[in-house]
Amino acid sequence: MATSRGQFGSRIGFILAAAGSAVGLGNIWGFPTQAASNGGAAFVLVYLVLAFLLAYPVLMAELLLGRHAHGNTVIALTRISDRPLTKAIGAATGLTGIIVASLILSFYAIVAGWMLGFTVAYPLSSLGFGSSSTWLTAFTVPRNLTLMTCFMVMTMGIIMGGVHNGIERWSTRLMPALVVTLVALALYVFTLDGAVEGLKVYLLPDFSKVFSGDLILAALGSAFFSLSLGVGTMLIYGSYLSDDEYLPSIGAQVALIDIGLAVLAGFLILPSMYVAAERGVEIFDASGALLSEDTLIFSVLPALFTSLGSIGVIVATAFFGLMSMAALTSSISMLEVPVAFLVERFQWSRQRAATIAGTIIGLISAVVIFNFESLFGLVIALTTRYGQPLLGLMLCVYAGWVWNRNSLLQELKKNNPAAEKTWFWRLWPFYVRIVCPAIIAIIFARSLL
Ligand code: PFF
Repeated sequence: MATSRGQFGSRIGFILAAAGSAVGLGNIWGFPTQAASNGGAAFVLVYLVLAFLLAYPVLMAELLLGRHAHGNTVIALTRISDRPLTKAIGAATGLTGIIVASLILSFYAIVAGWMLGFTVAYPLSSLGFGSSSTWLTAFTVPRNLTLMTCFMVMTMGIIMGGVHNGIERWSTRLMPALVVTLVALALYVFTLDGAVEGLKVYLLPDFSKVFSGDLILAALGSAFFSLSLGVGTMLIYGSYLSDDEYLPSIGAQVALIDIGLAVLAGFLILPSMYVAAERGVEIFDASGALLSEDTLIFSVLPALFTSLGSIGVIVATAFFGLMSMAALTSSISMLEVPVAFLVERFQWSRQRAATIAGTIIGLISAVVIFNFESLFGLVIALTTRYGQPLLGLMLCVYAGWVWNRNSLLQELKKNNPAAEKTWFWRLWPFYVRIVCPAIIAIIFARSLL
């Protein structure tokens, strides 16, 4: 069954695909400034601990559930249930995950389209096509629609290629390219005046800022988004993994790569900001906090690139190319969630499922673009603040309470006969039953207040 529905060809292919899903816009435009404003290296440390205490167990729940079922979330959650009620709630949870993954893609594709536009705009303007370049970077409905459509078509094209020839092939190409670009850009920025100041702000630990309750909760929320949890992306990737792999160590590698690349992005972003400040660009907002998110990406950094003269074109193209690659390896994992369901539930071909799901999501994106002010922020909040944590909670409940403990152990024993004696088996079941649901419930309750 597993092979007829597609499978990753190698362990490294899976790790790069899952890390590709995790490493996205969130890592590069959120994490570095959040860390710098909240205690620098101390924040990085707390984030690391939290990611392993909370996000990793949920990631493992998804990977184990997916690999056990070799099927989509609906199949995975109904198969482990033996009562009609838990089956029905499992199916509803799986379907909600499919809807939330699709909605995340609907806003992600808009932002990723902007990245594509900026990638092309810099070379175009240096070749003398100034008006095309301005069109690509100015915020208008036609530009947003065109670029979102281009990005969706790329995402659909990769997904149509299948697990091995689409997802795995492109992740193994794009992830190394992403790392090389990130390191090269960071090394270049280190040579500019002001970079060391940025490094100090990023790395000097300030433990007094780290222990605020709000901050820890915010870090937990972003760890969830960063590891693509709750909506079934990791579950479906896990379902394409061979029974020969020992999941706890593979999951740990994926989590480490995600965190490692977020930390690495800080070595580019913070020095860049202080280099920009050295050249007269404003990098703080009215309250004195570092500018972040879209202002950082679409105004602070472009001002820096312009100040670099002709080399700025190369640096800018590499930077926005990096963002586009990070977005693409994440977006394919989101589209795979509805596509896998349509293929398995209705026996559609992959091409048909990808075309129909991609078109519907593109249409939702278009509605968001036409009503940007009222819908964009709302869709982000609904999916990432409420959808992901709540679905993550349900996955923990299913992995921890509904799934028969012995069947779970057999899943782990498939590739490690001594699984019972591992630290993972001693700690994880307790975590996924008690600790994770309790913490997620607290985060959720607070986000409602
Ligand atoms: N992890 C991605 C990022 O950090 O940008 C975002 C993401 C991907 C969220 C896939 C949810 C998802 F299902």
